[in-house]
Amino acid sequence: MGTPVPGALVSRGVHTFETVNVTLDVELDATTQMARIRLSGPNSGWYGVGFGAQSMADEPYVIIVDGTSGTYQERKLGKYSVGTSLSSSLDELVDYIHLDGYCQVELQRPLEGATLEHYTFDASVAHATLDVIAAFGESSGLAYHDAKEVGQLTLVRADVDAGSP
Ligand code: HEM
Repeated sequence: MGTPVPGALVSRGVHTFETVNVTLDVELDATTQMARIRLSGPNSGWYGVGFGAQSMADEPYVIIVDGTSGTYQERKLGKYSVGTSLSSSLDELVDYIHLDGYCQVELQRPLEGATLEHYTFDASVAHATLDVIAAFGESSGLAYHDAKEVGQLTLVRADVDAGSP
């Protein structure tokens, strides 16, 4: 991680994976060294988002949400497999909500990964892109997806004093 940019303490990006019906909203705070991650996806089955990857073969750190119960888990994906379960490093900022067919969770964790398998976020970059992937499955448990998508999150400086863009 580099030096925080003066006056640019928060980097924020929002990306919607249109075919998966999942929205990822990330805010990286260089002062508190925390990442706020808001995820929204279908309120049945499961959905998930992986960080720093353009494919499953990259074996990314993923957050998987159960759309029915709003519970979540962290994993390291395998190449075309469910991968391994990771220790929990996320805190729930607010209770999950079901709204208009979506299940939204708002989570927080330190920028630095709890282990090497947990992705480490970099808040020092005022303008940056982050490779992300997402998937959705209709099954009640995590299994092969019904939709998947590759994307990029553009992180831009958000002036905290002026409010979020
Ligand atoms: C049991 C869990 C999973 C299995 C068995 C699985 C299997 C596969 C397979 C066989 C493919 C090759 C293309 C296709 O058949 O559609 C694929 C592609 C893909 N999967 Fe998964 N997947 C799983 C979980 C996930 C999760 C949790 C995510 C994201 C959070 C994800 C994201 C993707 C993406 C973005 C692709 C397209 C790029 C690529 O080929 O890597 N998958 N998956």
